[in-house]
Amino acid sequence: MCGIVGYVGERESLGIAFDALRRMEYRGYDSAGIAVAGGPGLAVVKRAGKLANLEDKIAEVGSESLNGTTAIGHTRWATHGRPTDENAHPHVSYDGKVAIVHNGIIENFAPLRDELTQRGIELRSETDSEVAAHLLALAYNEGETAGDLRASALHVLNRLEGAFTLLFLHEDHPDQIIAARRSTPLMVGVGEGEMFLGSDVAAFIEHTKEAVELMQDSVVVITKDDFEILNFNGTPAEGKPFTIDWDLAAAEKGGFDSFMMKEIFEQPAAVRDTLAGHWDGNRVTLDESNLTNDDLKSFDQVFVIACGSAYHSGLAAKYAIEHWVRIPVQIEVASEFRYRDPILDERTLVLAISQSGETADTLEAVRHAKTQGAKVLAVCNTNGSQIPRESDAVLYTHAGPEIGVASTKAFLAQVAANYIVGLALAQAKGTKYPDEIRQIWDELESIPGKIAEVLGAKDQVDHISETLGAVKTMLFLGRGVGYPIALEGALKLKELAYIHAEGFPAGELKHGPIALIEEGLPVVVIVPSPRGVSQLHSKIVSNIQEIRARGAKTIVIAEEGDTAVEPYSNWLVRIPQTPTIMQPLLATVPLQFLSADIARENGNEDIDKPRNLAKSVTVE
Ligand code: F6R
Repeated sequence: MCGIVGYVGERESLGIAFDALRRMEYRGYDSAGIAVAGGPGLAVVKRAGKLANLEDKIAEVGSESLNGTTAIGHTRWATHGRPTDENAHPHVSYDGKVAIVHNGIIENFAPLRDELTQRGIELRSETDSEVAAHLLALAYNEGETAGDLRASALHVLNRLEGAFTLLFLHEDHPDQIIAARRSTPLMVGVGEGEMFLGSDVAAFIEHTKEAVELMQDSVVVITKDDFEILNFNGTPAEGKPFTIDWDLAAAEKGGFDSFMMKEIFEQPAAVRDTLAGHWDGNRVTLDESNLTNDDLKSFDQVFVIACGSAYHSGLAAKYAIEHWVRIPVQIEVASEFRYRDPILDERTLVLAISQSGETADTLEAVRHAKTQGAKVLAVCNTNGSQIPRESDAVLYTHAGPEIGVASTKAFLAQVAANYIVGLALAQAKGTKYPDEIRQIWDELESIPGKIAEVLGAKDQVDHISETLGAVKTMLFLGRGVGYPIALEGALKLKELAYIHAEGFPAGELKHGPIALIEEGLPVVVIVPSPRGVSQLHSKIVSNIQEIRARGAKTIVIAEEGDTAVEPYSNWLVRIPQTPTIMQPLLATVPLQFLSADIARENGNEDIDKPRNLAKSVTVE
């Protein structure tokens, strides 16, 4: 949830830590702070709000007061305690010598806090994190571990319960940072004569491509020339080395005014790269996923678990998989799944979809599914993250780093990956003939080009927000696979423009929500292809007429050549012709533009960082 960075080297560490936080800010932006050592002493600067506020604070105190070659930094998504200066990290110990940054939740902080209070130590913040700074100072200053920083850190870590990534910096040991991880992620960046730490590789991608992932319950001590990994009991442990294949440009805005806009334009590549390597000329392949044909054949139901946009991608997959494979697909938001006693067995394939691979709700649902004997296939965008690690198999989406907090390209890549799974199941179970599968695959392969066409026609959407006027509420309607698109469109609008928005199955409108329709209410309608065999198209045209008759202003997303909708559209946005089942990959794109436009009309300029949100939700 929070973003964590660390640096030990020979360069001025303040700027390096600040730039790293800039790339970590998508993980939380309630406050930010940096502690520096290796200069005159331990110096800390922190501020509530976005990183720009920290920049002002640094200018105010003067960067010369923050000299030093070692630094730790933090950007926060608040859990315990409001986003204030006091609650911002780093937290400093009672003797002023220890600074810590923390991501996660220290579950036993209340008794630890009481213990510290009884010792006469006054806690300055409302956070669960601050206790770690005081405990380390106490362990270092007195008792069995006195004077031994490493032993003191291990002692403290063994007293903490919950999930945490923690970095410790001590004024008397400015040549090192001691860090630990339990459940939340931590990477070491291995430079030449300098070492880095980061919640993810974006923290140090500018400086090195060589990284080591820390495993569960590991401690690492970094100095400028070396790193040493230990278990919580102090014995040597291994990390997982890897070379970073994302480049810096992928983590920068590349000429766009926001990451989100850049990522919207990266969607053709995200889908193309996700599909790449999964068709061998004759068959769909899931080779790297670790699932055999026999595994695929054996499943008699699919259970999809995910949150937010990832859930919407799974809902689209439900329509596709049931249609192609003829086995039941259930879907549930991950936070509900494990509290409901779902019925799973070894013939159940659980599809766990997560961009970050860190979402606590989805991770817990994966763990629960495994205890029920189900086989879990993760669809994930982040290499080496926790959800794929704990799953039986993984299919990576190749969307590249998604920095904008609202999901765009990762969502489209998830839909594509889910469809690969659906086709692989249909192939293994023989519910589609090979030439049918080839035909669907060809359609999928044509999608990146069609997304590029939608992007090229952005001006269709641009004028909508200008002429829409003030919007307080907006409805989104779809039928069939248009329903998940409606949900995704409504979610984007809520997140970016802070406007109340709801997605409904269009047919359900008459059963209640139609009471919301009043003169001038904007309603987005996603129209299925008129070339499909089902009656969905004519049904939705009737639905559009029903809402127009009650005064709604309609924004209609329909494919080229669909003339039936023309008389009933206040604004008509065209998408290329495609089978309806593929529409989530196209019709979502104008809705992303629309949300960004309305957000800006409403004065929310920073669409990359919507209020109250964080990119990875690592708390339940
Ligand atoms: C919406 C959004 C969130 C995420 C959700 C799951 O724009 O980004 O709804 O989709 O928090 O996150 P992941 O996919 O990382 O598990």
